[in-house]
Amino acid sequence: MSKPRLISGIQPSGRLHIGNYLGALKNFVDLQNSGKYECFFFVADYHSLTSNYDKDEKSKEINNVIKSYLIAGLDPKKSNIFIQSSILEHANLAWILSTLAPYGNLSRMTQFKEKSEKQKNNINVGLFYYPVLMASDVLLYDAKYVPVGEDQIQHLELTRNLARRFNKKFGDTLLEPKPLMTKATRIMSLNDPDSKMSKSIPNGCLFLDDSPEEINNKISKAVTDSDLKIKFDPKKKKAVSNLIIIYSEFSGRSIKEIEYDFKDKSYADFKENLTDLLVGELSVFRDDSIKKSRIKSTLKKGNQKAKKIAAKKLKEVKNKIGLIT
Ligand code: AQP
Repeated sequence: MSKPRLISGIQPSGRLHIGNYLGALKNFVDLQNSGKYECFFFVADYHSLTSNYDKDEKSKEINNVIKSYLIAGLDPKKSNIFIQSSILEHANLAWILSTLAPYGNLSRMTQFKEKSEKQKNNINVGLFYYPVLMASDVLLYDAKYVPVGEDQIQHLELTRNLARRFNKKFGDTLLEPKPLMTKATRIMSLNDPDSKMSKSIPNGCLFLDDSPEEINNKISKAVTDSDLKIKFDPKKKKAVSNLIIIYSEFSGRSIKEIEYDFKDKSYADFKENLTDLLVGELSVFRDDSIKKSRIKSTLKKGNQKAKKIAAKKLKEVKNKIGLIT
């Protein structure tokens, strides 16, 4: 029996940080290795155009996401890895879906509101249309599951809604995907524990390929709280709790164990230990041994497979809505 399909992607909107790793990438690898799914992981380069970007950096950012996928353990023999913009069907199906998407639903999207606040000088239509493109990313592949964090649930609901609308109007064609809720590890900015660590706000990010000096510098400057205890209390001690979560995720030790280990220690001791841990755990991402040829062969295989499925689905959709194919 064939395995259920699963799809997800990461935007090349800057260098990947430990939030992207703990909140998404690490989980992609576990899902792949579970052997339970047919996995598709892409680089969401079209999505990334909705934020401000430097055209001279874009191809490097795309390659870096693929490199991080491979270093983290995604294996082209087990997963299909591809680039969103290489499969033209994504933008094509998105257009068709946009004609079914209620304007009101899109204008209520939390991410649209948040990003519009963040980039007031660039509230582009793509930012508004983003969830429709995401629906296309998923529906093109008959993906049964989409691994998502809390913040993507609203978008996935729209995807499900669009599949239902389409099927109701034109007959059963699109598979309604289900969220595969991941253990939500939300990593906050090292500078501001009230904001999510985000690629597009490099201040406060710990990047996967930061040098030992940068890691040391960033962790020693990371904000803490006024009382000096290493105690997990996400309401009253957000900054230290964030650092404890990072420690726990990378060391595999529980929060209780960490609190116990550091109960008589200072913030400086804790930060020194955390720095050593991160320098060790992230060393693989500083290794530049992934060859261009490996990236090329990974994409060749992944793009080919994705293209075949997407082209067939788009043809079916066009037929159903009466277009000439
Ligand atoms: N701080 C975070 N903690 C946990 N998970 C996170 N993710 C992102 N930031 C954190 C997860 O990483 C995946 C990548 O998503 P994306 O690149 O498509 O967009 P994003 O969520 O908007 O990521 P960023 O880093 O915040 O990028 P920008 O600044 O470009 O918007 C997602 O699964 C996300 O949940």
